[in-house]
Amino acid sequence: MQQRSRIHVAGHRGLVGSALVRHLKNEGFDNLLLRTSAELDLCNQQAVEAFYAAERPEYVILSAAKVGGIHANNTYPADFIRDNLQIEMNVIDAAYRHGAKKLLFLGSSCIYPKMAPQPIREEYLLDGALEPTNEWYAIAKIAGLKMCQAYRRQYGFDAISAMPTNMYGPNDHYDLQNSHVLPALIRKFHLARLASTGDLTAMQRDEQLFGNIPDDILHMLAIRRSDNGFTMTAGRKPAVMLWGSGSPFREFMYVDDLARACLFLLKEYSGEMALNVGVGEDVTIKQLAELIQGIVGFDGEIVWDASKPDGTPRKLLDVGRIHALGWKVQTGLENGIRLSYADYLSRSPR
Ligand SMILES: NC(=O)c1ccc[n+]([C@@H]2O[C@H](COP(=O)([O-])OP(=O)(O)OC[C@H]3O[C@@H](n4cnc5c(N)ncnc54)[C@H](OP(=O)(O)O)[C@@H]3O)[C@@H](O)[C@H]2O)c1
Repeated sequence: MQQRSRIHVAGHRGLVGSALVRHLKNEGFDNLLLRTSAELDLCNQQAVEAFYAAERPEYVILSAAKVGGIHANNTYPADFIRDNLQIEMNVIDAAYRHGAKKLLFLGSSCIYPKMAPQPIREEYLLDGALEPTNEWYAIAKIAGLKMCQAYRRQYGFDAISAMPTNMYGPNDHYDLQNSHVLPALIRKFHLARLASTGDLTAMQRDEQLFGNIPDDILHMLAIRRSDNGFTMTAGRKPAVMLWGSGSPFREFMYVDDLARACLFLLKEYSGEMALNVGVGEDVTIKQLAELIQGIVGFDGEIVWDASKPDGTPRKLLDVGRIHALGWKVQTGLENGIRLSYADYLSRSPR
């Protein structure tokens, strides 16, 4: 790869895509091809064709996808499977036909079988039934990495895939209905700190910026919603309620580490197997919650709602293969959360 190589980062405004752009620019790549979904709808085959014919990217990182939580997957299964299949078909095919030298497709650890042995090795893919709540997304993602394998076999196109674990970091999504566990915890503890200091104006600004604060969360924060905004409930202390027992183990990786891994794989890896990209270590949700509580500075109570399900007891990627190639994470969990919280605060209007 040359510093002037034309690199299409598809999905450059997302959590992962924005980290990719930061990292590529830091490394001196200054010929990035970036289009928002409004400028180039990757579901639109004609538009993708015209873009690739005109720009002829030399390298492609496919980080655009329709992404969402359990609720969104259950409500819009057709949108999830259609949009993701269309994006993959259009981009992978156009990249190959218009002479791209290499393409990196991003899969996800959630496409492994629900009951995969731990830690999850790459060869467990398609070895068992999927988690039913997100199978629309998972099937489409599996199709994407199979397309990469097929184009590699039939046409010799250097298309590779990576399977990242759970990401967090700058530019994350904090909408409490849809966000992943780590950003949701950051926001819940931040709101609890604001409630305990009585800073209701800051809570209102937070809601305008990051989305609705559901009533059950407000209730635990000892806050009521009224026509005039928020008011405190006398005689109660703010607390944070979290689902389940806190005992499941999960793995979290700072997104700038994934960006480094993507560039590393583009330079160093060429093969059919979709490689796991993760930390290789996990924490319990309880440990994670207490870590975030300390970083945010909320000294009230955490209430665990044991009536809610815990989900899979453990989800940890085996990262032996990428380690053997010479890549490892650099950002520890505590440092990564501090950086993410600083980014969250910097986005909150004063
Ligand atoms: N976040 C994680 O924890 C995680 C973990 C493992 C794997 N991954 C994978 O990493 C990739 C990126 O995830 P992310 O968390 O960065 O998602 P994200 O923040 O939701 O960003 C997705 C991006 O995709 C773009 N996009 C969606 N539909 C599009 C369309 N029809 N045309 C053009 N662009 C479209 C959006 O562009 P606009 O902003 O311009 O609308 C958005 O910026 C996904 O493939 C995901 O599976 C993520």
